[in-house]
Amino acid sequence: MASFKTLDDLSDLSGKRVLVRVDLNVPVNAEGKVTDKTRIERVAPTILELSKKGAKVILLAHFGRPKGAPVADMSLALIAPAVEEVLGAKVATSADCIGEAAASAVAAMKDGDILLLENTRFHKGEEKNDPEFTKALAANGDIFVNDAFSAAHRAHASTEGLAHLLPAYAGRTMQAELEALEKGLGQPARPVVAIVGGAKVSTKIDLLMNLVKKVDALVIGGGMANTFLAARGTNVGKSLCEHDLAATAKQIMVEAAGAGCAIVLPVDGVIAREFKAGAENEVVDIEAIPADAMVLDVGPKSIEAVNDWISKAETLVWNGPLGAFEIAPFDTATVAVAKHAAEETKAGKLVSVAGGGDTVSALNHAGVADDFTYISTAGGAFLEWMEGKELPGVTVLQR
Ligand code: 3PG
Repeated sequence: MASFKTLDDLSDLSGKRVLVRVDLNVPVNAEGKVTDKTRIERVAPTILELSKKGAKVILLAHFGRPKGAPVADMSLALIAPAVEEVLGAKVATSADCIGEAAASAVAAMKDGDILLLENTRFHKGEEKNDPEFTKALAANGDIFVNDAFSAAHRAHASTEGLAHLLPAYAGRTMQAELEALEKGLGQPARPVVAIVGGAKVSTKIDLLMNLVKKVDALVIGGGMANTFLAARGTNVGKSLCEHDLAATAKQIMVEAAGAGCAIVLPVDGVIAREFKAGAENEVVDIEAIPADAMVLDVGPKSIEAVNDWISKAETLVWNGPLGAFEIAPFDTATVAVAKHAAEETKAGKLVSVAGGGDTVSALNHAGVADDFTYISTAGGAFLEWMEGKELPGVTVLQR
């Protein structure tokens, strides 16, 4: 892995203004209350370490997609109380991230203080990575720390531009994320198994194409599996299936065969006639799906096959649930496989890295999130990493 500087390279920071890019794009309810503080918890160690080292810690973040103008319910002032709660420290706020408001808030800081600047996306220059806007952000800092891996797929002013203007360092979460990802697909211990689930092949074509070149076995689950099954001639009944992607699915299978990657598809499925919790269901052979039924989970023989692969593997990379995990009992396969991967990890036999979209909630639901080697809170950035794409916010730290 290309090297990058970390907080270990920063010692006494007294008097230094440190701009820290964090990801505070967290879910909130109708009353504006944060419903999942995981991302805040992930960046807390970096913020507290910098504050302890005497820095004036100035947080930069986006929240939502306000399209370059202020939007009241996308103000980071709404998130500040949750940040204070997680940090156990006072967090000042400022009405803007550049200009007079930001400058005077920074000027009022003492060493060790923490300030949260307003949403960077309230300015058009953020997403355009505009040099003038980047300069205006840099005016408030001596050092730049990026701790927002989950926004590193964006080449924005606060995720990429700033690293060209100020000495740049990876925060603790960015560091942990990059180290875990390196173990996952960079220089992994073999055999490597990837599990890719979720509804649609169409959103994951690049990812599947990249994975077949890198892993020894690719387990395909969720609605996506039906597209592959149908492509090879299996009748999937009323199951979710992108029939128009049959050629793509076939091509992925051909690429996999050429690269020596085993494609693991379900051999049995749990079928139902209604998509609802507790719907009447039964297990059928994958070649015997009734025309009026849909597959909502992979069956017990398939679970066993996936778990056998995990037992043989040294490394597991996981994105997407195997079935409709949000409605019981169609969470059975996801939970069973997650538990097995967690056991293997705890026994020191497996490096397990998971992330993207529904994956974190699926693993939380299985109660194993703490037992995986690393669970990424990144959505789009994790997927782009799995696609083998360059992440601008990471590349610039590795210059
Ligand atoms: C995320 O929530 O995945 C990141 O914060 C990036 O957000 P974005 O997709 O709006 O750029």
